[in-house]
Amino acid sequence: MPILSSSLARIKPSPTIAVTNLARELQAQGRDVIGLGAGEPDFDTPEHVKEAAIAAIRGGQTKYTAVDGTPALKQAIAAKFERENGIGYRTDEITVGTGGKQVLYNALMATLEPGDEVVIPAPYWVSYPDMVLLAGGTPVFVACPEQTGFKLRPEDLDEAIGPRTKWVILNSPNNPTGAAYSEAELRELTEVLLRHPHVWLMTDDMYEHLVYDGFRFTTPVQLAPTLKDRTLTVNGVSKAYAMTGWRIGYAGGPKELIRGMGIIQSQSTSNPSSISQAAAVAALNGDLSFLPERNAVYRERRDLVVELLNRAPGIRCHRPEGAFYVYPSCAGAIGRRTPKGAVLETSADFAAKLLEDEGVAVVHGTAFGLDPYFRISYATSTAQLEEACHRIIRFCERLED
Ligand SMILES: Cc1ncc(COP(=O)(O)O)c(C=O)c1O
Repeated sequence: MPILSSSLARIKPSPTIAVTNLARELQAQGRDVIGLGAGEPDFDTPEHVKEAAIAAIRGGQTKYTAVDGTPALKQAIAAKFERENGIGYRTDEITVGTGGKQVLYNALMATLEPGDEVVIPAPYWVSYPDMVLLAGGTPVFVACPEQTGFKLRPEDLDEAIGPRTKWVILNSPNNPTGAAYSEAELRELTEVLLRHPHVWLMTDDMYEHLVYDGFRFTTPVQLAPTLKDRTLTVNGVSKAYAMTGWRIGYAGGPKELIRGMGIIQSQSTSNPSSISQAAAVAALNGDLSFLPERNAVYRERRDLVVELLNRAPGIRCHRPEGAFYVYPSCAGAIGRRTPKGAVLETSADFAAKLLEDEGVAVVHGTAFGLDPYFRISYATSTAQLEEACHRIIRFCERLED
């Protein structure tokens, strides 16, 4: 009898984590590698957040807490939803998990039956399809091509929804493309959802605060309050507050769903770290005045990367609205040959040879469901980004027919 289960055979390890680990390994071997794979800010957690964590340790907040979040954190989250999104969630409509990742996982595990479909716009965050598969559901992908700014069109959403559709997942600003829906674009999508009352909406707002050029973030329930009783609004502190390692994510949603998610968590990890929860209270209740300065840096880096990549022969890079990713096409490099004679047949070949020949680690587009593209995270120093882009230009210039 095999030791591993058949459900494990349905999924694969996270490709973004694999690229990050490979880049770290090569660096440890002494190779000059610039890692553009990791989806985390290079900024530090704000000082007042760290202080709150230290105070929590000293004050003895070192024991188990309520499974799905302390009352203080749930109150801070409720206040955040009210203040920033104009949505009133009671504390029994809020859950806290070990990162947004666990919150999404709990929701899918608590709700999917075999044969249930989950509509996932592609390109997508790598974990959605695998989580759906692990929970026994079936992902239904909808292509969001570059021509539509990598955004889901209402008519395509309408067509993808069928009688077995349980969830639609929206993610704006998006990982891996950085695309974010304007209020008007989002309204059109909510209108489609309003016509399909059996469908639930999972909105992943993890990059809410990382938007540029005056873009105004909105979340679906804000625009269509009647969707509230079938929407899970997911968010977290990882990206905006540079707290990826603290592992705190949260969601607001209908009480019955929130309770079900808590049951899954109670039989897996129990509460997220008590210290991290105390830190997240300070983050959410504290001000966001550190953010405009950081966002100005992100915006500058985005513009630099877009400009430099568009100089590389065979590469075309769209300028996105938010997050800290760009998703350039490498279609013009496919079918060409490196000076060592390797033919680039896929974006995976492109990424592998770029790492081998120039020491730049990017994530190939097959991982995100739209190809031939690759993802670059520009949450790294401007000097490193500049050097990485020049290496990409050199790599592309050296390709032969
Ligand atoms: C779109 C998206 N959702 C959710 C997450 C999960 O973030 P965390 O588990 O750190 O809260 C990530 C992290 O990369 C992400 O990019």
